[in-house]
Order: sequence, then structure tokens, then C-alpha cells
Amino acid sequence: MKTQTTSINSIRKDFPILNRHVYGDKQLIYLDNASTTQKPIQVINSINDFYRNYNSNIHRSVYSIANEATNAYENTRNKIAKFLNISDPKEIIFVRGTTEAINLVAYSWGRKNITKNDVIVTTEYEHHSNIVPWQLLVKEKQAKLKYIEINKSGELCLEQLDSYLECGNVKLVTFSQMSNVLGTITDSKKIISQCRKHDVKTLIDGAQSVPHMKVNINDLNCDFFACSAHKMLGPTGVGILWIRKNVMEEMIPFHGGGDMIKEVHKYDTTWNDLPYKFEAGTPNIADVIGFSSSIDYINNIGMDVIRNHEEDLRDYTISKLDNIKNIVIYGSKDSTKSGGIISFNFADIHPHDLATILDEDGIAIRSGHHCAQVLMEKLDVPATSRISFYVYNTKNEIDKLITSLEKAARLFKL
Ligand code: ALA
Repeated sequence: MKTQTTSINSIRKDFPILNRHVYGDKQLIYLDNASTTQKPIQVINSINDFYRNYNSNIHRSVYSIANEATNAYENTRNKIAKFLNISDPKEIIFVRGTTEAINLVAYSWGRKNITKNDVIVTTEYEHHSNIVPWQLLVKEKQAKLKYIEINKSGELCLEQLDSYLECGNVKLVTFSQMSNVLGTITDSKKIISQCRKHDVKTLIDGAQSVPHMKVNINDLNCDFFACSAHKMLGPTGVGILWIRKNVMEEMIPFHGGGDMIKEVHKYDTTWNDLPYKFEAGTPNIADVIGFSSSIDYINNIGMDVIRNHEEDLRDYTISKLDNIKNIVIYGSKDSTKSGGIISFNFADIHPHDLATILDEDGIAIRSGHHCAQVLMEKLDVPATSRISFYVYNTKNEIDKLITSLEKAARLFKL
């Protein structure tokens, strides 16, 4: 345990923002990592280095710094392939983030493959980004959207999926590997094997899982996988979409423009090779390069260390929250089945009021519907307060959070 504390302390030194104070003397305690994570100096420096030393466009020019930029950009693709165990880096498309990735699938695969009365299945704990693109698609195609419900422990009722699959017409099952509100880890392999039996495609939203647990795409055997760099110590505005090659080959382009073409004539165009057919225009080069540094950083720590640390922090936090009267925690308290996310309500204090009180003590948590209003409806609450961890959070920070919650209880005379 001592070694772990020591190494977490040295990790914290890499994050300049963790030295920040707010309201004069309150040291920032950042507990909103499911929303976005902080960036280590190594990531900041790599972006800085690109702009200072080899800023140029990629895939277009023959001069030296353009080659350096192209190589750095393509190296990120190769690194991601290794990190997620993807056999062919050319199955990876760079996008702005998970939201764009899912919209790309809905447009380029969905508009070609979904027809009247087809069914797309999602779950009650999805982020809006894994609901709204499908609503748009099914409305356009007169298809149907169905939901796998959750039980009291915040887990999916997978027998419901069986009944949907038995009825036929299901073309896609799309789900997050970790709920951004409850932290529930989805039994992805079970869903995928159920779907494979019926020749149904699967899409995984890995925005919350990839930063916090080992993910092996080859082993998962899904068809589409999306995640975002900014939730894994990398920059905002970049993410990836992995698509199984034979599926990608059949998809129509998403955006038209430079780099996604082979030849353009007055009335017709031929497409570039995969995956460039899906990367129109100048991409977010600097941040793709920054993404590479964030993967190096995570690899240096080790995914097991990250996962164990967050499990330990979650258990610790839940044991402390359980000692405070009137706190209701949503989902499972079993941290072996959850990522480092805890959503709760505190008596009838509105989550925004609670977050404001904590903020006065320098503690940043998220409050609201967390872009998961379907789940809020299921939980029958308008909003929750949410704490979410990363590898730099400490038990000392949790102790301060608990002191601040006790202060809120006094203020509201609970
Ligand atoms: N998806 C992010 C969250 O859950 C924004 O906060």
C-alpha cells in the first residue's frame, strides 16, 4: 500500500492543474473524471512540441516536417491498435470523439443497412450520444428502437435481449461498456455472443471503459468500437472508431472533402483507401499526437494499477458515504462490477446546490442528468450528484469530500 501511495504522489506531480487553488486557498480536488480527465505534462509537452517544431499538414506534402507530422499521426494509429489489441491499424478511424464515432456508424452503416421495421437495440443506461443518433435513424427509416432495461443493481436484464433477438429484425445492438452514471461494467462478451448467434452487429461505446480497464477488441469480437482521448488523459476533440474490416468496406462515406478521395471529376468521385475514406479534411493532428503521449503515460503506469487503485478508492468512498445518513447511492456498491464512478443523492438537496457547496471547498463533482435522461427517468430522479475517479485521486481527497458533505448536512439541517 505504501508503494502505491508513493507512486500516486509521484503521478500527481505530472499534472500541473492538481496544484491549483480556487477561491484563494482551496486546493483543487478534481472528482469529475467521467466528464473529462486532467492532462499530464507529457501530453501537454507533446502538443507544444508539434506546434513549435513540426507543425504541418499530413498525407499531402513531401518535405521533411510534413513527413514527421504524418509519421507521428500514423504512429498514434499503430499505438492504439496495440493498446486495444486490434490486428489491423487500418481498421481505426480518427474522429472528434465517441459522439462523432457513433454518428458516423448511424450515418454510414445505418443509412445503408437499416430499413423499415428493422430494430436497433440499446440500453437504459446509455449516454445521449448512443440514443439520439439512433432515434434520428429509426425515424428516417421507419425502423424501431428498443431498450434493454436495468435492474435494481443497475445491471442490464439480458434475458430481455434474448427475447428481442428471438423476434427477429434486430440489426444492431449498441451499448456502453461502462455506464457513465452508475459505473456498471457491462457483460459485453455475453451480449456479443448472444448477438453473433443471430448474426446481429454490435457496437460498443468504450468512452468510460477504455480509460479505466483493460480492453481487448479482438477478444470482444464486436463490430464497432468507439472511445475518446480526453477521458484518458489525452486532449479533447479526438477519439477513434474501430470497425471490423469487412463491415467498413461496405459503408458509405460520412463527410466529403480532401484526403477521403482518390479522384474527383466534375460529376463523380472515387474513394481513398480505408480508413482514409472516412477522414475528410485536415484532421486534429496536434491532438492525435497528444493522444499518443497519453497512451504512453497510461502504459507506463499499467492498466491493472489504474483499475486496482480506482476499485480501492470506490470501496473507501462508499464505506464513508454509508456512514452519512440520507445518502442514496444508485447502482451496485460492488466495485468489482463497477468502474470508479458513484452517483448519489443526498436527502432532498438538489445536486446543483450540493455541487455548489462542494465547489466552495475546491471540490469539483458533476451534478445533473449526465447526458443520460433515459436513465434518470428510470431512476425516477431529475438529477444526481456524481463522483468519478482517476489514477491521481487519493483517499485524503475523499476525506475532504466527506467533510464537505457533512458541512452540507449541517447547512441543510439534516
Ligand atoms: N460523457 C461525459 C460525462 O458523463 C460528458 O460527464
